[in-house]
Amino acid sequence: MSKRVLVPWAMPEIGREVLRKSKAEVTFLHGLKGELPLPGEILEGLRNADILLPSAFQPVPKKMMVGNPRLLGIANFGVGYSNIDVAAATELGIPVTNTPGVLTETTADTTWALLMATARKIPQAHLYTMSGKWKGPGGKTFMGLDIGPGGSNRAKVLGIIGFGRIGQAVMRRSKGFKMKVIAYDPLKKEEILKMRGVTYRELDDLLKESDFVSLHCHLTQETHHLIGERAFDLMKPTAILINVSRGPVVDERTLVSALKKGKIGGAGLDVYEKEPKLSQGLAKLENVVLLPHIGSATADTRGQMAVLAARNAVAMMRKQKPKNIVNPEVFGSPDYLRRISS
Ligand code: 8YV
Repeated sequence: MSKRVLVPWAMPEIGREVLRKSKAEVTFLHGLKGELPLPGEILEGLRNADILLPSAFQPVPKKMMVGNPRLLGIANFGVGYSNIDVAAATELGIPVTNTPGVLTETTADTTWALLMATARKIPQAHLYTMSGKWKGPGGKTFMGLDIGPGGSNRAKVLGIIGFGRIGQAVMRRSKGFKMKVIAYDPLKKEEILKMRGVTYRELDDLLKESDFVSLHCHLTQETHHLIGERAFDLMKPTAILINVSRGPVVDERTLVSALKKGKIGGAGLDVYEKEPKLSQGLAKLENVVLLPHIGSATADTRGQMAVLAARNAVAMMRKQKPKNIVNPEVFGSPDYLRRISS
């Protein structure tokens, strides 16, 4: 009997093709314009599915998993998987996969676009020019912060928190700006100590020294609200915070107050604590640039993410080990063995 895959969002065609070729029976659940289904509709659709292939915007809590004892895997569309209760999946014997690698360069590009736009107030200046308010000399000047050494020839310090694939791709792009790069990542300390072009710093030192702090860590219990009141007290009053990782790494309400009080200079955000909601006051600030979670959003990269997620789904559907497993410990578990033998 052919296996059933539930895709509750508008997956790019190139990924659908992989599923079609696998002869899986695929159900796509979304509106004509790509509107996402309600969690209740996903729960309903999941009752008959062998594989769930959600986008990283769709929460997959334990109660969604327990309703289907035959579920063979969850193939997330995204490198991040904080939308999935992975601990519950592991406990229930369900493999979870993600899509690392293919989005590294695109997300690093977005990080730099956001960093530069925030430092030089590009969106604010664009809106001013478009609105016809620019009447020549004497108008707003949109004085920014240098990214390169500037007139005084002082190399700026880029502090990278989370030094995985994306953090390292962000570092590579900093070369042309002659920046000094420092990084904090307790899991990669030894690796960073051996690397050229980057110096290891403990968190507090990184926060004190950086002109730009860029976040590239996974959301875990340890990184939840990693950047809050204490961090803002340590950062330079001119420092710019960039977040393209996950919203809850930053205590957003405290960020709004730090930006209002001038504890830091500005923030460029692609992700938020309660997406798509923004904390009160955030969108009224002048020293922020806000994007709607578009870190990996190019047609090429989203297409390749879809291919990877689909391949992971097909492997799990065939009860084989997928390439990008998040909870490898699941394979030896009695619950997993029961699932694949039923
Ligand atoms: C999303 C992301 O996957 O990969 C991630 O972790 O946050 C994004 O690339 C994408 O926006 C669609 O869900």
